[in-house]
Amino acid sequence: MIPAIHITELFDERLQDARAFLRRQGRLPADFAQPPCRYWAACDSDQIVGTIGLEWQGAAGLVRLAFVRPSHRSRRLGLALYHRLASDALCMGLTELYLFSTGAGGYWRRLGFASCPVAEAAGKLANTPQVRDHTARNTLHHEQAFHRSLLTRRMEAAPA
Ligand SMILES: CC(C)(COP(=O)(O)OP(=O)(O)OC[C@H]1O[C@@H](n2cnc3c(N)ncnc32)[C@H](O)[C@@H]1OP(=O)(O)O)[C@@H](O)C(=O)NCCC(=O)NCCS
Repeated sequence: MIPAIHITELFDERLQDARAFLRRQGRLPADFAQPPCRYWAACDSDQIVGTIGLEWQGAAGLVRLAFVRPSHRSRRLGLALYHRLASDALCMGLTELYLFSTGAGGYWRRLGFASCPVAEAAGKLANTPQVRDHTARNTLHHEQAFHRSLLTRRMEAAPA
């Protein structure tokens, strides 16, 4: 039996369902799902209620599009999505994660991320779709960057 809410990786039509979900939530970027990338969703029965995406270059990953539908927030779905991404990223051989966030830095800090220079993240991930898009639009200076190693054994606590 499929549990009521579960985390699943998205392929093909399910990626298109995520595209529609993000569009409805006003969160769809023009460069959604351009390779190299992987996406996962939190599904309530069959319905997508949250997403998270990973792009990468070398051993560095870039987390993006972490989003949970307002009706489903504070039920640890964001945490579950992040844990699935981090676990799969480790299996891919990635050793560190970066992300850009202007409004959710406090959330990522609780998951072990620390602030880092935007130039460091952009330099290591220059060929990822999100950084290429930022560079093309000259919008990187609006961002704040965060980093965490995937090799430290620190267990992420659920956000308080
Ligand atoms: C950030 C987000 C994905 C978390 O999803 P979630 O499923 O609600 O997360 P969790 O249940 O794991 O954690 C919830 C806790 O994180 C806290 N939190 C949520 N957003 C936060 C933020 N921007 N800054 C600091 N803390 C935040 C909540 O206060 C909540 O605490 P509580 O449980 O004491 O109420 C969700 O709030 C969201 O979609 N926000 C809008 C999009 C966004 O900002 N995404 C991040 C882009 S980098």
